[in-house]
Amino acid sequence: MHAENDVIAPTSVERSPASLSTTPAAPAPNADRAVASRTRALDTRRLSKDFVDQGAFLYLDDFLAPDVTAQLVQSARGLLDEVNRNYLPGHKQGGSVSRHTIDRLAPFIAELYRSKELIGWLEQLSGDKLQVSPADDPHAYALYYYTRAGDHIGWHYDTSYYDGRRYTLLLGVIDESSCRLDYELHTRNPDVPDQPGSVQIPPGGLVFFDGDTLRHRITPAGANEMRVSLTFEYVTDPNMRPWRRFISNMKDAIAYFGFRQVFRQMAKRGKDRA
Ligand SMILES: [Fe+2]
Repeated sequence: MHAENDVIAPTSVERSPASLSTTPAAPAPNADRAVASRTRALDTRRLSKDFVDQGAFLYLDDFLAPDVTAQLVQSARGLLDEVNRNYLPGHKQGGSVSRHTIDRLAPFIAELYRSKELIGWLEQLSGDKLQVSPADDPHAYALYYYTRAGDHIGWHYDTSYYDGRRYTLLLGVIDESSCRLDYELHTRNPDVPDQPGSVQIPPGGLVFFDGDTLRHRITPAGANEMRVSLTFEYVTDPNMRPWRRFISNMKDAIAYFGFRQVFRQMAKRGKDRA
C-alpha cells in the first residue's frame, strides 16, 4: 500500500542540481510591502476593465517583486521532497504540495496568500469582495510541479463547489519548460464568441480568473523540464453544502493531494469537536 500517495504514484520527484545548492536562505520579504510596491505602479482601473472584457481573466507577465519571486523559487526547490505525485490517466499527471505542508515549511507563502494588499488589489480587479478559503481546503494555496516528461493537466474549469464564486490566482515560480497555459475565454457566455489564447507564465508572472468561466489546460512537459506554479484560491462565500463538500474532498484526494492530506485535516477537526 502507498502510505502518502493516492493513486499509482511513485513517491518523490527528482532533485534538480539547483536544489542541492548550499546558498544560504534569503530572509523572507514583507508580503504587504512587496505587493504594494508593485500594485502602486499599475493602472488598476485599466486592468480591471481588461479583466471584465476578457470574461474574468487577466494575464500579466511581470507582477511579483523580484525578492518575492526569489523567495518562492527557494521554497519551491526546498519542498521538492514533499511533492505528492498523482496520475489520472488521460487527464492529469504531476505533483503538488498542499497548504498544510506549506504552512509547516514555507510560511511566507501563507503570508503572501493572506496579504491585505494583494486581496485588496484582486478585489479591485474582480469587483467582488474576496475571502480566503476555509482552513480545510487544500487548494487555498498550493504548489504544482511539472517535473517529468508528460506532466500536464487536461482541459478543465476550476469549478466552485462553494456557494459563491471561486477565483484562481496563478503565479509563475519556475519555468524551465515548454509547458503552456492554453485557455479559452467566454466559453460560458453565449453572447460572445469563444476566444482561444496561450501563455507561458514566467517567474513572477500572474494569471487571475474566475474558475467557473475559464476553460484551461497545461500542456505536457518535455524530458528534463521543470515548471512550478503557485496557485491561490479566493472565494466570495466560503459556505459549501455537505454533498458538494464530499465530492470536492474525493476529487482532491484522488487528483491532487492524497487521502491522508485531505482526510487527516477532517479527522483533526472531528477530534477537536469531540
Ligand atoms: Fe485549473
